Amino acid sequence: MSEETNEQSTTDEQQQEQRLYEELKKIREAQMAAQRERIAAARRAAERQQMIEEMPRRQIAVIAAVDAQGGFAKDGKIPWHYPEDLRWFKMITKDSPCLMGKNTYEDINARLGPKAAESVLPNRRCFVLSSSLGSISNATIVKGVLDCENYMPDDEGDKTIFVIGGERLFTEGISRANTVYLTVINKQFQCDQFFPVRYLEERFYVDKMYKNEKSPDVRFTIWKRKQEV
Ligand SMILES: NC(=O)c1ccc[n+]([C@@H]2O[C@H](COP(=O)([O-])OP(=O)(O)OC[C@H]3O[C@@H](n4cnc5c(N)ncnc54)[C@H](OP(=O)(O)O)[C@@H]3O)[C@@H](O)[C@H]2O)c1
Repeated sequence: MSEETNEQSTTDEQQQEQRLYEELKKIREAQMAAQRERIAAARRAAERQQMIEEMPRRQIAVIAAVDAQGGFAKDGKIPWHYPEDLRWFKMITKDSPCLMGKNTYEDINARLGPKAAESVLPNRRCFVLSSSLGSISNATIVKGVLDCENYMPDDEGDKTIFVIGGERLFTEGISRANTVYLTVINKQFQCDQFFPVRYLEERFYVDKMYKNEKSPDVRFTIWKRKQEV
């Protein structure tokens, strides 16, 4: 092989190496840009999450009446009638939005009849969790606790939403609530649906308790969430 040919192949190799180097450099730069974008996206997501966590959250309260065994319903009905408890419920939830499951809605609707024509609970904005109810005129159907927010007027941003039952909603509601209003009836009614009493006793403390002189069986208790340590 002549000297000239040798020189030519060295130059070819160098050029090939140079091209390879340029290509690798481009790939590396693209990888680094993608990595920078991933980090920036993660940072933006973290900032959004922090903003959400720092946003003031809507206050949720749960209100229920239970018997001595923590039961709240039997055969799809409330198996007692204490007018003082109905008055307590009305007083506590007055002017506040209330969220209930479909069965509770139907039970109240049937009991109140024409009185519930405008709102299933008169003078309260009512929300019903249901996937099966068609349109109803005296309450708003929602998909979940948080969905209520979409139907709350701006000037009611400070109102507490009351979760009023039944079983699953009590469990879901109490995990987000800061206050639980629990009427305890010191009798047994052989209920078949139960309030999450164990969770309540573990995570909440009794802040206030009222007795009714006319009905010694009935106690009105207000529970507040314990501070997380
Ligand atoms: N003692 C008390 O303080 C008290 C309070 C309230 C109610 N009650 C009594 O409790 C009984 C009703 O309680 P319940 O547990 O059977 O029924 P409920 O909670 O009132 O209604 C359950 C229904 O709500 C709908 N739903 C949709 N999404 C849901 C979700 N994420 N969580 C919960 N429900 C959802 C479902 O109907 P779809 O199939 O339409 O989706 C579900 O079958 C009645 O007897 C009522 O009178 C007692």
